[in-house]
Amino acid sequence: MRRMGPEWLADAVFYQIYPQSFNDSNGDGVGDIPGIISKLDYVQSLGVDALWLNPCFESPFNDAGYDVADYRKVAKRYGTNRDLKRLFTEAHKRGMKVCLDLVVGHTSIEHKWFKESSKANANAYSDYYIWTDDWTADAGNLNTIRGMAGRNGNFVTNFFWSQPALNYGFAKPDPQKPWQLGVHHPSCQAVLQEMIDVMQFWLDLGCDGFRVDMAYCLVKNDPACKQTSKIWRGVRKMLDAEYPQAALIAEWNNPAEAIQAGFHADFMINFDCITDPGCLNDGKCRDPFAYSNGEPFFSKAGKGDVHGFLDTYLDHYHQSCKAGYIALPTGNHDIIRLGQGRTAAELELVFAFLLTMPGVPFIYYGDEIGMDHRHNIPTVEGGYTRTGARTPMQWSPAKNAGFSTAHPSKLYTPVDPDKARVCVADQEDDDHSLLNRVRALVALRKGHKALGGDGHFEVLYAEPGQCPLVYLRKRGRERILIAINPATQPAEAIFASEDIRPGEVLMGSRVDLAEKGPKYHITVPGSAYAVIKV
Ligand code: BGC
Ligand code: MG
Repeated sequence: MRRMGPEWLADAVFYQIYPQSFNDSNGDGVGDIPGIISKLDYVQSLGVDALWLNPCFESPFNDAGYDVADYRKVAKRYGTNRDLKRLFTEAHKRGMKVCLDLVVGHTSIEHKWFKESSKANANAYSDYYIWTDDWTADAGNLNTIRGMAGRNGNFVTNFFWSQPALNYGFAKPDPQKPWQLGVHHPSCQAVLQEMIDVMQFWLDLGCDGFRVDMAYCLVKNDPACKQTSKIWRGVRKMLDAEYPQAALIAEWNNPAEAIQAGFHADFMINFDCITDPGCLNDGKCRDPFAYSNGEPFFSKAGKGDVHGFLDTYLDHYHQSCKAGYIALPTGNHDIIRLGQGRTAAELELVFAFLLTMPGVPFIYYGDEIGMDHRHNIPTVEGGYTRTGARTPMQWSPAKNAGFSTAHPSKLYTPVDPDKARVCVADQEDDDHSLLNRVRALVALRKGHKALGGDGHFEVLYAEPGQCPLVYLRKRGRERILIAINPATQPAEAIFASEDIRPGEVLMGSRVDLAEKGPKYHITVPGSAYAVIKV
């Protein structure tokens, strides 16, 4: 139907690994790459096709590695470049791809480019970052840091103070501010070339693509990201020509824009909560499914309104579905865990939804067993409230949940002390465990092209404030209807559709689906879903 790009992405399901917290092989309390390798059979057993690893490069870890000091070197605590190469090989042996995290917009202050750039004497790196030309200068809407460098100027930052923005130029440099360079300035072009070299370095070592951190932020004062998009289209051209099977996945949170900019996929993460900085601080509403006024659709209360999600989703879907994919994650290292306040049965409904939607689903490590969010634990490496979603993977009831042999005080973050905490070992042999239901849902998706990334998507019933949600997926002659009712009460939907023939329930509960005149009626029991061949 579509697009050039990596064929494998069309039906891919990703698993995100936060390397600090997945599996510690050497007992230092921090997860590492050999630890990940030794759990690849587990990852493969989920049925997923690809891994995304958060940054694993040399870093002072002021922002958990999103402050890179050397793009070409694996941080010691995770192992060596050789280990990472072995991870690529071992994953490939098991039919899985590995995507790295490319932090393209900023480095750490420890990066050698920045150290050079900070010097008073002009050198090749002076304009690799955005510096005002006097320490009293006004940088307008940009954040700057004063008083840290030998040169007479302030540097622009992208996120934390210690993440100086790399210089990709300004869309329309202000003539009154000669320090604002145009995008074609040789230094801005050199920075871009550095990043392309970094991508090629890892692709040549066997990596399969990148999740690009804050991909929208390259060019400054760039309305509608026009110039930034131009840069990415250039990068995509290079990939199409030289690495056609490499995936380019944006953290842009605007699929319509990101896919237009050349990305194969972009995340859509609870828009309200990501863009409203209040939500990031008040501890509320960061649940990826807390759409519309903080009331999650996926809740027993049945109070959420799926339109808070669906209207934005459909808008982006229709704008982007011919050229790329929307990636829906169960969560990630920046947001509250899905498991917070939800039972395994409730979580299964969320997975049933995610794994039957178009695009590329991402499962955040631990969500497949329903790990809980840990509030009020000490911040680690700039995690702050995000730290609670970054706790050690819970493998077994053993010491440190089987994550590490280190003394508990040495762990990256404390393990959830709850005696009833979930773990992989407890769920392995139970067919009804969340882990095994997730495996079954992934297998269901993989077994039915209509459920894959490219399958057509059509909403059949989604009334404001009502359950159930009913939608149709289609590919070729295959048609699959999905009905989800998170509320405890049974819910009925009446909808029109082209000719569908109620068939076998592939997964979920028995439901009543019947044709009555020109309409179909479906009744879904409380807290239930059904995936039905039609
Ligand atoms: C990452 C964050 C990180 C920030 C700055 C993001 O959006 O996901 O974890 O702190 O970029 O690099
Ligand atoms: Mg370790």
